[in-house]
Amino acid sequence: MSSLLDEKRLSPVEEEPLRPRPHRTLHLLAAVLAPIALLAFVLQLHPAFVYSTTAARPAHLHPHTSPAAAAIDWSWLAPEKQCPGLQGIGQDEFTARRTQLAELLKGEDGKSWGAYVSEPGPNTLYYANLTQSDWYLSERPWLLVITPSTSDTHSSRLSILTPSFEVSRSQRLPFALSSAEFESVSWVAWEEAEDPYATLVAHLEELRGKDGINSEGWSIHLEENVRQFVASGLAAAVKEKEGVEVGLASIEVRQQRMRKTKAELNIQHCVAKITRVALRAVREHLRIGMTEKEGEALIVNALTAGGLKDLGAIVLFGANAALPHASASVHKRLEHGEFALFDVDGSLHGYMSDFTRTMLPDIHTRSCHGFGKPKILQQWPSARAEKIWKTVHKAQEAALAALVNQNDTHVVYATDADRAARGVIAEEGWEKYFTHRLGHGIGLQVHEEPYLNSGNTHQPLLSGFTFSNEPGIYIREDEDTEGNGIGVRLEDMVLKTERGWSLVAREELAKSPWEP
Ligand SMILES: *[C@@H]1O[C@H](CO)[C@@H](O)[C@H](O)[C@H]1NC(C)=O
Ligand SMILES: *[C@@H]1O[C@H](CO)[C@@H](O)[C@H](O)[C@H]1NC(C)=O
Repeated sequence: MSSLLDEKRLSPVEEEPLRPRPHRTLHLLAAVLAPIALLAFVLQLHPAFVYSTTAARPAHLHPHTSPAAAAIDWSWLAPEKQCPGLQGIGQDEFTARRTQLAELLKGEDGKSWGAYVSEPGPNTLYYANLTQSDWYLSERPWLLVITPSTSDTHSSRLSILTPSFEVSRSQRLPFALSSAEFESVSWVAWEEAEDPYATLVAHLEELRGKDGINSEGWSIHLEENVRQFVASGLAAAVKEKEGVEVGLASIEVRQQRMRKTKAELNIQHCVAKITRVALRAVREHLRIGMTEKEGEALIVNALTAGGLKDLGAIVLFGANAALPHASASVHKRLEHGEFALFDVDGSLHGYMSDFTRTMLPDIHTRSCHGFGKPKILQQWPSARAEKIWKTVHKAQEAALAALVNQNDTHVVYATDADRAARGVIAEEGWEKYFTHRLGHGIGLQVHEEPYLNSGNTHQPLLSGFTFSNEPGIYIREDEDTEGNGIGVRLEDMVLKTERGWSLVAREELAKSPWEP
């Protein structure tokens, strides 16, 4: 150190200021660049900058997370903070579901007999806590079968049709069964060279005989996801038998899953609440110039921190939102005067959420002299944009109003809610731009029965049903004579109650594009 100083002090160069010297310019340049390089190096170590290279981004963040977004703390969204004490569906409820199903299979007069047949999927999850990842679908049928029983304590019996060489594996699956129930499961094994469906039908006839049932005939109720070869196989196996029917499970049976219990509603409330508050928080991070993919990253990171699984996100800016199911692009950036549409879903304890918000970012402005507090500008992009957003909102309200029972005998049908919402949009002349149904049931699947379309005139909306209320107006770029294309959708989850409705998130609808 001192030697350097000494050298400098002794150097004659400083005494000749007027003489141009090429290496002096280089020194100056170095003196200016060195602190910048040092600063860049230090900043690079800061998390917000490290994440700008893909390699260093933490694995739990979405690949399109911007440096600024990587620093956002979403931990407050965790389910234990949003819904302390929340639990999954308990063992007793699974047993009660099977018991109730068995009652339904006996019919109103108790004189029918039927077998409910499900492939691995949402219905095995509902009745036995098994998901499709517990038993992947293959060409070899593996079926969960529930029948009424007079000999079993819970008046229902579980049979599993399984390839013979898979019996042991089947028995190790995490069924939600008490040990007594597990003991009484029938493991119906079929050998590779046998007809599995004939094996199952023979087993069912034996069960029916054992129960001393004298019904004229009996039926096989197939859940809605059973594949065609399974349905055909079962139909062929009963072809020669008189009075045996194979078909889609009856509406009474299917309605069991549509009607949510208190435990289910608690979970649905939590998953809805987390999704809703995440969307509201994400709006505050919307910036002009960000890409749709960066928007997707924001909400995906938030919902992941919220403990949600099976995430889905449709994030569309401006005219792109006129294509209801398009997906986020790395090229489309949010511009001034454009709506940002977020349609997102995720699961908690198996139950799905589904929300859509069409939002606007805050625009930060400074006074013209650059002094004073920065202002947040919340301005509708255009009179038309305002009218469209408010019309969609009004359509949502009209759908809710249509869910109110006017008197003791008034039944609300799926069609009523759709038509009410559609009417509001038609009044403004935008009917042809509301291109999809009003909504769909929601539970273990993001789309499930009942479907709220105007053609569904026979499906009553019963208390305990949960479904989406999601009107929209979509004017594509190529058909827009007044602008460059626009899309607005608002979606909330609704519970049908005895006399009316309530929102599953137990909050209000969006108030504005700034208060989603
Ligand atoms: C259902 O399965 C989940 C995991 O898949 C498990 O955490 C839960 O305890 C199971 N519930 C019952 C009642 O067995
Ligand atoms: C009940 O309300 C419905 C729907 O508003 C109406 O059509 C019906 O006439 C009412 N019935 C009675 C008994 O008031």
